Amino acid sequence: MLMDITERLNELKKLIVKYQDSYYKTGKSEVSDSEYDRLFDELLNIEKGHPELITADSPSKRVGSDLTQDFPEVSHTIPVLSLDKAYTIEEIYSFIKRVGTEVNNDDLSFILEEKIDGFSIVLYYEDGFLVRAITRGNGYVGNDVTENVKTIKTVPLKLTEKVNIAVRGEIFLLKNDFKKINESLEDTFANPRNLASGTIRRIKSSETAKVPLTIFCYEGFLDSKSEKKFHTHIEILEYLKKLGFNVDKNISIFSKKKINSLFTDDMSFNEIPDEILRRAELRESLPYEIDGLVLKVNEIDVRDKLGFTEHHPRWAIAYKFQSPQAESQVLNIDVQVGRTGRITPMARINPVTISGSEIKNATLHNQDYINQLELCIGDTVAVSKRGDVIPAVEYVTEKNTLGNTIWHIPENCPVCNCVLVRRGAHLFCPNTECKARKVGALIYFCAKKQMNIQGLGEKVLNLLYENGYVKEITDIYTFSPDALLNDNIEGFGQKKVMAIKDAIFESKKQPFRRLLAALGIDEFSHNAIDLVIRNGIKSYDDFKNLVKDKENAFKRLSSIDGLGPETSNKIIEAFTDVKILSILNFFDSMGFKMEEESAENTQADLILSGQSWCVTGTFEKFKSRDLIHDIIRKHGGRVVTSISGNTTHLLVGENAGSKLNKALNLGVKILYESDFIQLLNSMGEVYGKET
Ligand code: IVH
Repeated sequence: MLMDITERLNELKKLIVKYQDSYYKTGKSEVSDSEYDRLFDELLNIEKGHPELITADSPSKRVGSDLTQDFPEVSHTIPVLSLDKAYTIEEIYSFIKRVGTEVNNDDLSFILEEKIDGFSIVLYYEDGFLVRAITRGNGYVGNDVTENVKTIKTVPLKLTEKVNIAVRGEIFLLKNDFKKINESLEDTFANPRNLASGTIRRIKSSETAKVPLTIFCYEGFLDSKSEKKFHTHIEILEYLKKLGFNVDKNISIFSKKKINSLFTDDMSFNEIPDEILRRAELRESLPYEIDGLVLKVNEIDVRDKLGFTEHHPRWAIAYKFQSPQAESQVLNIDVQVGRTGRITPMARINPVTISGSEIKNATLHNQDYINQLELCIGDTVAVSKRGDVIPAVEYVTEKNTLGNTIWHIPENCPVCNCVLVRRGAHLFCPNTECKARKVGALIYFCAKKQMNIQGLGEKVLNLLYENGYVKEITDIYTFSPDALLNDNIEGFGQKKVMAIKDAIFESKKQPFRRLLAALGIDEFSHNAIDLVIRNGIKSYDDFKNLVKDKENAFKRLSSIDGLGPETSNKIIEAFTDVKILSILNFFDSMGFKMEEESAENTQADLILSGQSWCVTGTFEKFKSRDLIHDIIRKHGGRVVTSISGNTTHLLVGENAGSKLNKALNLGVKILYESDFIQLLNSMGEVYGKET
């Protein structure tokens, strides 16, 4: 009986793997979906009843599990080095020359491979079974992500031979799959690499299984006890293919003598530069992303002779297509605490200049991002600054040699020492009295987009807070700036104090919508405020009346197109919160505008309603993008700061950055300044003069 079941199980496994393989190779299914599901269910059922029959290579291992996992740190048993880089053909020439003179060998040959822009992984096999999949980490220690990697259909769970081998490869996503998946996401990824590395670190392998990741393998390391020895890289690639690995077939061979290989015809050394340039041109037409090409010595004995530096082998070089905007070393990482308590890790880097400005700090977003990058202090990183966004660390270009491991955000707030709490992807300081949060709220209130109080920036507000002049936003309107003069506070002369007084006075004239936004109520952002005002809730009294009946208030707010239940609840919570109400009462008593005057837009004015606009670059007629944002909102449009599948329009100014490309890829409608002015004029608004 058990024999029958074992036989049936083996039969099912073979069939399912066969169908999966042919689907992967041809993109078409040999059987109907229902037949495939029926076979799979039968396999799962047998395995459920007979767990002792589950083998490590069962297709059921690909489905993943809903159990959460962490990724323990595991030491590598092979050195996981990175590659030396070249950005010019001249540098490639000198590499070839250096190798040639150092080894002086007539049998020397080179292989050119694609440098896949994905996520680096090391697969460890024992007796032909996949036992561990470890991330690169710092080169010595990586994270165990085996369960997630097992869900990748092109990673063999069992090899065709019972060998002990470690295999290096790159996990990646096809461009088309990336596009499809990214469009369906709320928080989109900048590129397939980031999506792939994020997916590899999902805590439920069932989530990883939903993304069609794939792999190319490019290096194999046999157990030292193995009788088999490799003589060339080509032999390694051919053997990997034979064992069942996916190997990139786009390779070129350059040799003095002729080599017969499965892969390609060989060329001579002086054809290397042309071939590199030819392959670089083919890049766009590939279905996956490559960020360069890798030139490797083919002969293993020559490789051994050349050896390694601390960072990379002397027998290979990466020709990178683009030099990063800037490269620098991470000197330290510390965390910033925002007004909402949100913790943002920041890399302190060796100062570098990008388009004229000196960069010393770059954002690392959150712990997940640091994990994705496997970032350690001492690593060299690529840093970018696009438009006016905060510079960001994009990827690691060179691992540290200090033995540092992945950096972790501390458990306590660095400012008030409270234990941090996790909400979604971010950590927060929960202490509402934390100094960083208090000053953050003051900075936000005074910022250009909100009350626009010039002279009250980060530095001055910190000073006012520390010296006890301004602790709460209401203090801005009750403290006397003259005290700064009288108390002889350094840096505050007559002129500066006058300017601050004027700016504070002017801010009292700000429209109600800006005052509301300046309070920084969770979820009640500029866009949400505009939606509510446009729906007739446009004064402080309206809000107070609205929340008298919470149930009705929720019904009314959540029925507004574009306002979700969470935001609706947050609004109700805010207008029943005694602290917020007392602040608003204060502003009311100080004569602030407590009603939105321009809320009487007719339907005809709301010509942009339902549209989602992103604005990038600089403009001739509009002094600031904020002004354009206000106009878009006034006409019913939503303003977003990044391009996603939901963005409908991109308004492009001078020096537009990567947003334009992304918009083109996603088919977002693109307008230039003149188009925008024409559109506004067609609505009867005379823009086009100096605004
Ligand atoms: S060889 C000692 N070959 O690029 C051998 N690496 O910057 C070192 N990569 O960490 C790696 N495609 O993740 C090699 N065909 C290829 C590659 C490749 C992508 C990645 C790999 C490595 C990084 C080096």
